[in-house]
Amino acid sequence: MGKLAASILSADFARLGDEVKLVEPHADMIHVDVMDGHFVPVLSIGPVVVASLRAVTDRPLHGHLMVDRPVTLFDELRSAGTDIVTTHVEASPDDPLAPVKEARARGMGAGLAVNPDTPVDAVFPFLDQLDTVIVMSVHPGWAGQPFLESSLPKVERLRAEIDRRGLSVDIEVDGGINLESGKRCMEAGASVLAAASSIFKAEDPAAAAAALAQVARGDGRG
Ligand code: DX5
Ligand code: ZN
Repeated sequence: MGKLAASILSADFARLGDEVKLVEPHADMIHVDVMDGHFVPVLSIGPVVVASLRAVTDRPLHGHLMVDRPVTLFDELRSAGTDIVTTHVEASPDDPLAPVKEARARGMGAGLAVNPDTPVDAVFPFLDQLDTVIVMSVHPGWAGQPFLESSLPKVERLRAEIDRRGLSVDIEVDGGINLESGKRCMEAGASVLAAASSIFKAEDPAAAAAALAQVARGDGRG
């Protein structure tokens, strides 16, 4: 059984609470893309929005931190109600585990993300200390980009390593996920599909989330 993460980056931020409530019945978690304008060229949202979301949903809030110094945000994100934070190995190349430990010290779950150009092996040394690995299937920064096929062999390789070691780390694929690419990710061994545009830009976001959740739960493993 896989899971669906609704990524709010493509939602209408003027009515964010309503948008989240629409898809909440089908989403296992809410994926919050935090961007700092340095690690990625784009600036997005942070703890203030997480606090507003916390007031409207009981779903786990997952902060995907596309920022250079992620740990500096942890206290505020935790106070705002973030359940799990995922940081990029590219943001802490000398010690990718440092943010993981800092997250745990604050009682949050922890994950590591890898960009399309980073081999997935970069997370192998840390797998037994992670709740999740995000395999980026677009270059981080923007919603609405096409799915990168090169992420599929990375998912397969990561699935093989996690299974070989008997671990239960989630494999979350993030970027360009729709019914078709999502199905292939689940077949490759993903356990979580993160999607923004294919949910929130759909004419009927609730129906889109329901259909994608079915792909995540029906065809995959988890
Ligand atoms: C990209 C973000 C993704 C993004 C996905 O930098 O990390 O979570 O919201 O958007 P779609 O699903 O539109 O590719
Ligand atoms: Zn994301």
